[in-house]
Formats: sequence, structure tokens, C-alpha cells
Amino acid sequence: MAKIRVMSGMRPTGTLHLGHLVGVLHNWVALQQDYDCYFSIVDWHALTTGASDTSGLRDNVREVLLDWLAAGVDPERCTIYVQSAVPEIAELALLFGMITPLTWLQRNPTIKEQIQDLGLDEERVGYGLMGYPILQAADILAFRGARVPVGKDQLPHLELSRDIARRFNNMYGETFPEPEGLLSETPLIVGTDGRKMSKSYGNDLRMAAPAEEVAQRVMVMVTDPGRQRRDDPGYPEVCTVHAYWRALAPERCAEVESGCRAGTLGCVADKRAMAEQVASLLAPMRARREAWADDPSRLDAILAEGNRRARAEARRTLAEVRSRMRLPAFDDEGRPVAASAGTR
Ligand code: TRP
Repeated sequence: MAKIRVMSGMRPTGTLHLGHLVGVLHNWVALQQDYDCYFSIVDWHALTTGASDTSGLRDNVREVLLDWLAAGVDPERCTIYVQSAVPEIAELALLFGMITPLTWLQRNPTIKEQIQDLGLDEERVGYGLMGYPILQAADILAFRGARVPVGKDQLPHLELSRDIARRFNNMYGETFPEPEGLLSETPLIVGTDGRKMSKSYGNDLRMAAPAEEVAQRVMVMVTDPGRQRRDDPGYPEVCTVHAYWRALAPERCAEVESGCRAGTLGCVADKRAMAEQVASLLAPMRARREAWADDPSRLDAILAEGNRRARAEARRTLAEVRSRMRLPAFDDEGRPVAASAGTR
């Protein structure tokens, strides 16, 4: 039986952090056993908010690849590729733009939030940023992705991908699956200050962080602000460190919680234990990352193979899309190609 197709992607905006690892990558690694996975480094998406400074883009593509491999994403089982190596995705996004009402884009809460987070005023919100979810739909549907493992914040985008797939199918005949989200069970991991984890807030724990950096970041984490002395009873419900225990080591939660409530486990000791927990989670990945980083020609070969496979698949989809839409078609030399029988 053919495996179900999974598609997901990440923007190359820098090295990845614990939020990516626990919220998304662990999920990907588990899925690669049973699904036919396509994982894309979506560099065009990085341009939607970063076109004015592209100097880091090439390095960031490599950093993301290293973090994925370190987390255990396996190029023998998955197709790992770069979005811009598959121009058919851009063509599909353009065609989807023709059937997507502007109002569908304007009401997208994730884009609204992003605009707010970045403090962009209306003037600086470009066509590319408004079209972000259309490009994402093209990412998924160029590979007929049926399942999309993402964080919860991505659900509005996914809803739009489904709407676009449905509309296309209604207009031109059944072509695309309606992709479904696959959320991970792990609670969303917050930043060290309790806000959403993000490099731009300076509250992230990099996947590639050495133990000293982990300790530094963990020791400034916000615990129960009402707890003044070490033997005051604490309230784990308001403590960021405790949220980490829940996400990273649920089996230790009960013990930590009773120590905190009883005032026998102080915040400093709690953070020390957490720093160790995080460092030991990351240590083997760091080792793997370094081994991959020492082998640039193997990294190139992984992308070359992934890009080639992804492009072949997207070309097949686009050939069908053009035919379903009854668009003029040309071969590689520019010669008109007669409408194919078969489809419709
Ligand atoms: N928008 C996603 C994010 O910010 C990244 C993304 C782009 C994506 N294209 C995708 C995710 C396709 C899943 C499928 O995380």
C-alpha cells in the first residue's frame, strides 16, 4: 500500500530552537517511519518579511539543514529540499492567486499577528506577505501533501490551503487532496520569559547551544514571581520552568511539583535541574550536528538528491494542473504541445 504523503516546511531565518525541536521536529522524526515525507526549507517564505537583507539566507539554509539532520530527520527516508530549487511551486502559487479572493487573505489571523509582532505599518505590508498563505498552499499541494505536521499557530494557513484545494477541484476537476494538520501532543514550549519562543525576543534556547549557554538562559527563566524566599511555597501553575518539565520530562513533574508546593525545592535548584535536563537532550544532537557540518559534500549531495526528487514530483503535478486548467502547454524547446487526452 502506498504511504500517505506528508509535507511540511520551515523558514531559514537562523538556527532553530527548542520550540522547533519539541513542537515540530520530534513529530517529523516520528512520522518519517510511516509516511512519505517531503520537508522543505522555504527560503521564499523568509523573503516575505526579510527581502531587504538577504545576506544570511544561504548560511541559514545550511543551518536549518544541519538542525534537521541533528534532530534525526533522515534523508534516506524523507525528501529534503529547498523551496527555490523547485520553481514549479512559484508557478502554482501564481495560478492559485487567480482563484483566491483577497478577503480570504485579509482575514488570516496568523498574518495579522505577524504584522503586529514585527510592528509593520500598513504601508510596509507587501503583496508577498499577504500572499504568504497562497505560497504555503502551493508548497503543500505541488506535492499533493495530505497531512501537514505543524504547530497550532499554522492552522489558519492550513485552512486556507484546504479552501484553495477545494475551490480548484470544484472549478477544474478533482486534482488535490484537502490537506489535514497533524498537531504534536507536546504542549507548546514558551520562551524563557514566558512569551512565545522567538530568536527576536532573545528568549530562545538554540538547539545547537552548548551546556554553558543552556545554563545561562535557563537560570534567568521566570518562575513564580510571588515566591520570595526559597522555602516559601510556590505555585507551579504560573512557573515557566514547570511548563518545561511538563513538556520535556512529564515523568518528573509530580516530584518537582510537590517539592515546589512544600517549599523544599527552591527555584534555583529547580532551574539547575532543568538546565541539565535540556543540556542532556541537546548534547547528542550537537554531536551529530558537528559530524554533519564536517562533511559539506555530503550535505550538498543530500540537497541535490532531495531537490531533484521534489522537482520531478512538482513537474508532474504542474503538468496536470495546466491540463486541467486548459492552459496552453509547451515542451522544453517551446513547441506547443497538443492537449493531452487522459485528463478530462
Ligand atoms: N508557515 C510555516 C511556518 O512559519 C512555514 C511553511 C511554509 C510551511 N510552507 C509550509 C509549513 C508548508 C508547512 C507546510 O512555520
